[in-house]
Amino acid sequence: MDIISFATGNTNPESFPTEAFGDAAKRVISDLTVALNTYPGNMGHPGLRELMAQREFDREGVRVDPEHMLITNGSMQSIMLATEALCTGTDDIVVLEEYCYVGTISAYRTSGIEMVGIPLDEHGMKVDVLAGTLERLADEGRKPRFIYTLATYQNPTGTMMPRDRREKLVELAAKHDIPVIEDNCYGDVHYDGEKPPALYALDDDPRQIYICSLSKIFAPGVRLGYVIAKPPMLERILAHRMDAGPNTLASAITHEYLKDRLWSHIETANDALKTKRDAMVDGLRRHLGNECTVTNPPGGLFVWVRLPDDADPAALKEIANRNGVDFAHGSGFHIHNNAGPYIRLAFGFPSVDQIQEGSKRLGNSLRELREA
Ligand SMILES: Cc1ncc(COP(=O)(O)O)c(C=O)c1O
Repeated sequence: MDIISFATGNTNPESFPTEAFGDAAKRVISDLTVALNTYPGNMGHPGLRELMAQREFDREGVRVDPEHMLITNGSMQSIMLATEALCTGTDDIVVLEEYCYVGTISAYRTSGIEMVGIPLDEHGMKVDVLAGTLERLADEGRKPRFIYTLATYQNPTGTMMPRDRREKLVELAAKHDIPVIEDNCYGDVHYDGEKPPALYALDDDPRQIYICSLSKIFAPGVRLGYVIAKPPMLERILAHRMDAGPNTLASAITHEYLKDRLWSHIETANDALKTKRDAMVDGLRRHLGNECTVTNPPGGLFVWVRLPDDADPAALKEIANRNGVDFAHGSGFHIHNNAGPYIRLAFGFPSVDQIQEGSKRLGNSLRELREA
C-alpha cells in the first residue's frame, strides 16, 4: 500500500507553474553567462532582493532597504547565520516557543545552546510567561542571547500571535535589552482572519533580525530565503557567511518568474492550499472523533492535533504507517523532546483525495490503537 504522507511541510505540486517557470528559465539563461561563471557574493541577486523588499513593503507598509537584505540558500541558513552572529559558543541561552520548528531546535541543540521554552496557547507564545521567565533569568544573572519567535502561523501549532502580544513581546525584549529574531517563514501563506503586523514593523530596535523564505510561497526546492538586518547587525551576520553567496541560477529564474506576478502567484497558491486545509480539517474532525482536538489554522501548512490521553503518538504512528498514512510526532517539535499527546499533519503536498483517504486511515488507526 502506498503511504500517504502528512509528515513534512512541503508545498503543493499541483499549483507549481512548471511551464511558466521553464519559460522564465529560457528567458534569463542567455544573460547569465558571466553571473554563472563567477561567485555570487554575500548579498545575492539584486533583483530578487528588490522584489522581496517590495514584498515586505506590500505586506507591512515598511520600506526595507534591499542593501539591508541578504539572500540565503533557504531560511534555515538565515537561522544559522543569525544564531552564529549572536551566540558566542559559551553560556548561550535562547528563549523560544516550547514547541517550535524542528530545524531550529536541532541547530540549537547541536550548537550546545540552552533553550528556555515558553508555553503556547491558541494565540501563540504566552507573553505573560515570557515576562516572568525573563525576570527569573535576570535575577539569576543569566541573559539570553536573543528571543526567537514564530509569531505568524507558528510551526507546528499554526497559531497567530495577536497585535497586543506582539507589542508586549517587543516591549519586554527592549526592557531586558535582548534582540529578537523573528522567523516569518509562513507569513504569506494566509487563508483567513486578521494579519497583525510583523514584529519588525512594530519596533525600530536596530538589532532586530527578520527572516523570511520563498520555500512556502513558491517551492522549497529552489532553496531561497533571506535575512533583513540593519548595520552593524548586518555586518555581524555577514561575517559568518562562508559559502560565497546564494544560488544564482535559482535566484535569477525565480526572480524572472515572480517579478510581475508575486501576489497573484501567492493568491493562486493560497486558494489551492485553503481547499486542502479545509479537506484536512473536515476529514480529521469526521474520522478522529470528538475526543481529539483539531486546529483550523488561519495560515501555514499544518494542522496540530491533540490526541486523547490514552493514545500514545508513537504507537499510533506505527499502526498508521502499517495502514498507509504518516504524520509527525509532536515530541519532535518540543525543545526537550517532551512526549505530549500531539501530532502534526502537513497538508500542502498531498492531493485532496489523498487528504480524505489519509484522514480516514488515521481515524481507523486511532480506533485500532484504542481497541487493542
Ligand atoms: C518556521 C520555519 N523556519 C524556517 C524553515 C526553513 O525553511 P527553508 O530553509 O526552506 O526556507 C522552516 C521549514 O519548514 C520553518 O518551518
